[in-house]
This record gives sequence, structure tokens and C-alpha cells, in this order.
Amino acid sequence: MPTRFIVAIDGPAGAGKSTIARALATALGFVYIDTGAMYRAVALRAVRASGDLSDETSMSECARACLIELLPDNRVLLDGEDVSGAIRTPEIAQAASKVSALPGVRCAMVALQRKLAESNSVVMEGRDIGTVVFPDAQAKVFLDASPEVRAARRVLEMRQKGIDADPARIAAEIRERDHRDSNRAEAPLTLAPGADYVDTSDMTPEQVIAALLQLVREKAGKDIQS
Ligand code: DC
Repeated sequence: MPTRFIVAIDGPAGAGKSTIARALATALGFVYIDTGAMYRAVALRAVRASGDLSDETSMSECARACLIELLPDNRVLLDGEDVSGAIRTPEIAQAASKVSALPGVRCAMVALQRKLAESNSVVMEGRDIGTVVFPDAQAKVFLDASPEVRAARRVLEMRQKGIDADPARIAAEIRERDHRDSNRAEAPLTLAPGADYVDTSDMTPEQVIAALLQLVREKAGKDIQS
């Protein structure tokens, strides 16, 4: 194994990135980094301050001022406050999609993401990990699923948390976010050169994890503990 191994996982909302990336990181003994949580934290701070989410200057300042910590137990701290639940609302998801289109915001987050992986092997998930953050990652994966499956997964996830979710509304929100995240000028969601495309629509989480572990092992070319 090289000293530092990067697994980059990109894909649209609801493709199962978080579940898969977290399990993969545990299996590999790598650090798990949810970059969506970072953009969500910036968005939360901006929304709380009633900021203009399209204002490049103030949003970039906001991003630079945020102290974001991703804890090993997957909690997310913003300026020392546990915001793990507060960043998971549909409102903050949309706000994150908006602020993440701004180059200044991305610049601050990408710097932080690279720093987090400086001395660790990581499984990092997001939208631009294999294209921008770590184009030289040893393993790059694009996780996808049909829009219907992704919406259904989101509805289930929310209902499991006791949140009432209207399937039509969730599907519309996902479509809106997909469109914005894939069509922005800066670091749009797209298949990275050399990335493996995995359609998880008809796969169980266990099957996806097994497939990705296999892929990482092949890329590493050596034994990685399972
Ligand atoms: O993965 P997520 O749903 O938590 O991400 C929330 C938003 O953050 C997503 O709509 C787009 C943005 N994002 C991004 O632009 N780049 C990343 N690497 C991760 C997320």
C-alpha cells in the first residue's frame, strides 16, 4: 500500500454515497470525509445570518470564516456547535447547492479537503473529488442510480428519521439540485477521467460495498485488510 491512498467517490444526491463511503472507510481503516456536510455547514451559517446565497463576496467570506470539524463519530461541528442534524434539512440541502456554485466558496472548501487528507488515507465523497480535489486519487468512483430510486431512498431515509416526506416534493428537490450541481460553471458534477461508473439502482448496499472494496484492492495491487 502507498503511504497515502485516496478513494474519491462522486455522484448525485441519493446515490447512496454516504452510506457506502462510510462503510468502505471503516472496512479499509481510512478516514471518511463527507464534503457535502462541509458545504451544508457553510450554507447553514449563511442562512442563519440571512445572507444573500448568491453573493460571491459575502459567501466566500462566510466559507473562509467557518470552523468546520468532521469528527470520527460522523458528527459535524460548525464553530464548535454540533450541527449534524441542523444541516440535514431540505432547506439547507438547497442552500448548500446554491452556495457551492460560487468559486470562492469552493476554493475555501477544497483547501480544507486537501488539508484533511494530507496525512491520512481517506474515502472522500462529494461532487468534484475525482475531477478537482484529487484528480490523481488512486481509486475514483462515480456512484449513480436512477432518479426514481434515488428519490425513493431519500424518502425512506427521512421517514426512518421520523420526518414526513412527500415523494413528489423530494423527487422535485433532487431534480433541482441535480440540475444545479451538474450545470454550474465551477466544478460541475461529472464523470472524472479514469473513474469507474457504478449504477447502484439494482444493488444492495452490501453489494456496492463489496464491489468497491474489490475495486480498491485491484487499484492498490496489494492486500488491504477487509
Ligand atoms: O452530498 P450532499 O447532498 O450532502 O451535498 C450538498 C450540496 O453540496 C450538493 O447539492 C452540492 C454541494 N457539494 C458540492 O458542490 N461539492 C461537493 N464536493 C459536495 C457537495
